[in-house]
Amino acid sequence: MEKILQVKDLHVSFTTYGGVVQAVRGVSFDLHRGETLAIVGESGCGKSVTSQSIMRLIPEPPGKIKSGQIFLKGMDLIQLKEPELRKIRGANISMIFQDPMTALNPTITIGEQIMEGILQHKNISREQAKKAALEMLHLVGISNPEIRLKQYPHQFSGGMRQRIVIAMALVCQPDVLIADEPTTALDVTIQAQILELFRDIQKKTGVSIILITHDLGVVAQVADRIAVMYAGRIVEIGTRREIFYQPQHPYTKGLLQSVPRLDVEGAELVPIPGTPPDLFSPPKGCAFAARCPYAMEVCEKVYPFETSLSHHHYVNCWLQDVRAKALVSSNH
Ligand SMILES: Nc1ncnc2c1ncn2[C@@H]1O[C@H](COP(=O)(O)OP(=O)(O)O)[C@@H](O)[C@H]1O
Ligand code: SF4
Ligand SMILES: [Mg+2]
Repeated sequence: MEKILQVKDLHVSFTTYGGVVQAVRGVSFDLHRGETLAIVGESGCGKSVTSQSIMRLIPEPPGKIKSGQIFLKGMDLIQLKEPELRKIRGANISMIFQDPMTALNPTITIGEQIMEGILQHKNISREQAKKAALEMLHLVGISNPEIRLKQYPHQFSGGMRQRIVIAMALVCQPDVLIADEPTTALDVTIQAQILELFRDIQKKTGVSIILITHDLGVVAQVADRIAVMYAGRIVEIGTRREIFYQPQHPYTKGLLQSVPRLDVEGAELVPIPGTPPDLFSPPKGCAFAARCPYAMEVCEKVYPFETSLSHHHYVNCWLQDVRAKALVSSNH
């Protein structure tokens, strides 16, 4: 399958008064054309910093992309300068956020706002831009688009506003859409409708989607693959089936026990005890060791290597590594 985006060994940190926060500590993944890859993990694990790095929107300072590569169709985004990045943002990679109001200007009609992106990136007439805006509103399921085009953001509900933001993000037909907690601010019914919309859009446009969420329940319906992040690293990645039915990392298992499951009636929800480590001085070995019921001596000393469980399924946990026992004894 074609790799539209490749993130390789990304390290990002922030210099603050308290010290240097190592927010992202060696993240690597591929995004294939036309797939939805979900990135899940507890708050603060580096999901937003990863996506802001792809958009090259990390505020520098205090942030800094320390090392790594981000290839979009073979071009390394980390090497690009601001004028080149401006051409790519919106046109090749678009991003939407939790709160649609932050992306919308309350004083401009939504028609103008949708047209703005396409007029900026493509050499087309206002008439053609309006046609594209109408098509987008139709695509995201807004009825009477001719009338709606002339209205202002406050005339729409929260769910409708998120649809408009999605229309704005897609109007230039980007290759990649990054959605950072796009449904977190919405109630459950609207949330389901927006997730359904992502699926529908993907089918119609073939756009590749990175869906970021702290809620594994959200990705159960829409993700093709799932990457689980913990303390600035991906600790397990696999197909949706592999992550839901054959999770191997104790943290993934913990996350699954802490979300409501529709398919397991009466299942008890068990939150993961403890808190993630301090990213000012992250542990040398496995960052989950302090919370892990299976932690061994080696876990605190050496970061686990990646073990391949299938063509798509990879995990970083000593329990899966045949060399663990050898290392434990050599450390004694
Ligand atoms: N602008 C910033 N300044 C300092 N620290 C930041 C900044 N942005 C993010 N961080 C830190 O980076 C880490 C990862 O944050 P983030 O990617 O936002 O997590 P999440 O997984 O919840 O999206 C956190 O420890 C956060 O405090
Ligand atoms: S490497 Fe060790 S501490 Fe980390 S998740 Fe696996 S068993 Fe637990
Ligand atoms: Mg976030």
